[in-house]
Amino acid sequence: MKPNRLDERATPDFTADDSYVRYLAAKKSVDDRALNRTVWDCLGQQLRARSGNGPLRILELGAGIGTMIERVVDWGLITGDTLYVAVDREPAHLQAARLRLTAWAEQRGDRLVWESGEEGRLRLAQGELSLTLQAAGAEELAGQSGPDKFDLLIAHALLDLVDFRDLLPRLLPHLKAPGLLFLSCNFDGETLFLPACSGRDESLILERYHASMDARFTGASRTGRQLLDYLCRTGLPVLAAGSSDWVVHPVAGQYPGDEAFFLEMMIATVAGELAGAEQPAGLAAWAAARRQQIARGELIFLARHLDILAVRQML
Ligand SMILES: C[S@@+](CC[C@H](N)C(=O)[O-])C[C@H]1O[C@@H](n2cnc3c(N)ncnc32)[C@H](O)[C@@H]1O
Repeated sequence: MKPNRLDERATPDFTADDSYVRYLAAKKSVDDRALNRTVWDCLGQQLRARSGNGPLRILELGAGIGTMIERVVDWGLITGDTLYVAVDREPAHLQAARLRLTAWAEQRGDRLVWESGEEGRLRLAQGELSLTLQAAGAEELAGQSGPDKFDLLIAHALLDLVDFRDLLPRLLPHLKAPGLLFLSCNFDGETLFLPACSGRDESLILERYHASMDARFTGASRTGRQLLDYLCRTGLPVLAAGSSDWVVHPVAGQYPGDEAFFLEMMIATVAGELAGAEQPAGLAAWAAARRQQIARGELIFLARHLDILAVRQML
């Protein structure tokens, strides 16, 4: 796979994307709490039992600003030389990843050396991590075939955005057999804000919000359960699966990290998705009331997700 060029000298212009980049950074601590540890531990066991020589090869799709790369290192998932290709269709996210990963490595006391805009090397106690940041849509990769085969495909908070029934079969040629699919943070049909509101406005707003996801592709708002069912029925056996719900709540009136901003983005996403001539009754009032609760450190937010580890079996 040929990387598109990122400009290593450019200071990224985040004016359009700034808030989304900040949202992805704020989301990390929410995801850290949410990720299902049984599924994660099973992934670790499978990787340690991996047969074959050479470095571990990981392909991550929809990698955003690189928080999963940090996690696989910080949480001890990789135990030797590793090639990690992080793909995202938004070059601005990968520019942010480059800056963020450089700072993260420094904080760890490691040095991430960039050999070009998109190719970096990080020497760790357990081996070398060779990173490639590739600006591309997952669909483009799905259409390509090449000699590079990966041991592990990661898609975190992605498969409810793209039609996985179309995408996954076309990505399989990039995966070794046996090879692993770690498909995490798949939205599964439930969004909850507390304290509960009186009246029906909020439940109608959330129904319409979920329906707007289904306009992306059929069943998108229930991706978690549909993906689980799909994998089991299409010859990609599930090794582990479990809940990875987002739960955001104040601690003594304060949200951890930048999670107040994460909540602001949740409200803005729902309101933005439904705004327009046919917007549900009470949308603006609902958003304003929920924002005030964030400011007062009162809002609680839950969203149901599923993590899944599946395997492409030996051919
Ligand atoms: C919800 S964000 C998740 C990012 C990252 N995985 C995380 O959890 O922080 C989805 C990411 O996927 C990227 N994306 C969306 N559709 C994509 C596609 N079809 N191909 C590649 N990347 C895509 C977006 O640019 C964004 O960075």
